[in-house]
Amino acid sequence: MTTAILSALPEEQGSLMNALRAPERITHAGRTFWRGHLQGQPVVLALSGIGKVAAATTATVLADRLGVERIVFTGVAGGLGEGVQVGDVVVAGDFLQHDMDASPIFPRWELPGYGRARMSCDAALSAMLFEAANDYLVMDGGGFYPENSGVGHSHAARVHQGLIVSGDRFVSTSAESGALRQALAAAGHAVLAVEMEGAAVAQVCHDYGLPFAAVRTISDRADDSAHVDFPHFVTHVASRYADGIVHGL
Ligand code: ADE
Repeated sequence: MTTAILSALPEEQGSLMNALRAPERITHAGRTFWRGHLQGQPVVLALSGIGKVAAATTATVLADRLGVERIVFTGVAGGLGEGVQVGDVVVAGDFLQHDMDASPIFPRWELPGYGRARMSCDAALSAMLFEAANDYLVMDGGGFYPENSGVGHSHAARVHQGLIVSGDRFVSTSAESGALRQALAAAGHAVLAVEMEGAAVAQVCHDYGLPFAAVRTISDRADDSAHVDFPHFVTHVASRYADGIVHGL
């Protein structure tokens, strides 16, 4: 069973690329895919690019041309839920496109043609990620977010599971993240985190009948300091989490 491991940015892949055994390079649709083995398991490593369309194209190539049998996304996200802090890990339960709005023809956030707003992740694969994330945080020294990271304060990192929303916006003001959280909550959607690719990959995986799961480490709070926290976290911390979590699979 070949697993594709996707990230948006190279920093989010950690040392997975270095750990890949017998790598074979495949190029298609302007993208580079690396087929090989990680811990004896067949995998394809790729970068999704940033945003929903780039991610959907990458996922489509993985499903339709490279014949992968499941897709795992590892990367960073902005924390939206109360208590979802920088350094915490969120395993996706399901995904929603927060910038999908065909109202009044369809209810806000509903995906036209699908009859629903949320796409759920594969339960078994997500459970494996959740366990791997917990094990990794324990192994990482009690799950304490490193004090010398320069981002916020040290705290005991937690693993959450639930709704992640995606859209073609880097959410970088408290006003926008607050409005998004409140609008979603008013419609019964308790959101944990925001990023820019997952919901697109979830929709492609749904269309192709592929299991999908995603793990995102919180790099910022999608607030007025997100533009400072995000690059710092991605450069100094994100890769460590990718290694630990995905190696635990
Ligand atoms: N990925 C990481 N942080 C994000 C944010 N604040 N908005 C969108 N995507 C993100």
